Amino acid sequence: MNDKLQKYEGQDDIYIVHSARMKQLNPILAKGFFENHQRDDVERTHLFNGRLENTYLNEYHIPELAILREEACKYANQILGTNDIEVGFWFNHMPPGAVTTSHRHDDDDELLSSAYYISVPENSGDFIIKTSNVPGKGETLRITPVAGSFLLFKPDMLHEVTENLSNEHRFSIGMNFGRREYEEY
Ligand SMILES: [Fe+2]
Repeated sequence: MNDKLQKYEGQDDIYIVHSARMKQLNPILAKGFFENHQRDDVERTHLFNGRLENTYLNEYHIPELAILREEACKYANQILGTNDIEVGFWFNHMPPGAVTTSHRHDDDDELLSSAYYISVPENSGDFIIKTSNVPGKGETLRITPVAGSFLLFKPDMLHEVTENLSNEHRFSIGMNFGRREYEEY
């Protein structure tokens, strides 16, 4: 595991970094999800295949998310050469049998996107990402994520998660980064 931000296998627009500090917090994040996700003030969106893919928990629900926010923004600022990046994030809880359908993150003015991995049991789903959205260009990568790591990538890269074929829960946190002056929340 490398705790320094680096390009993923030589790709120009995909980065990976492993955080021992965040990995220590993973049990708290997973517990916090189960304790809070059905609260009335938690928004859930993106209904596909009978599952709401995005669950919007924040520091009010789980204070340790402030540490995730700080660390994620540090990496985004390194990649983008900025110092005022803000992040919006959501939990993606995939129980056994779940998939995450193909999507992109470039709906608005996002500059960078990320997935942070809380729990990725064996066979609980690989991350599939296309390195270019130009037809005939780029390649399709299949990445088996590791808990405690961040994958960072361009918002216009199409990606999905294959079916969770394990008997355990898979958890990740999706993120979008933007300059602070454009922050909407
Ligand atoms: Fe995503």
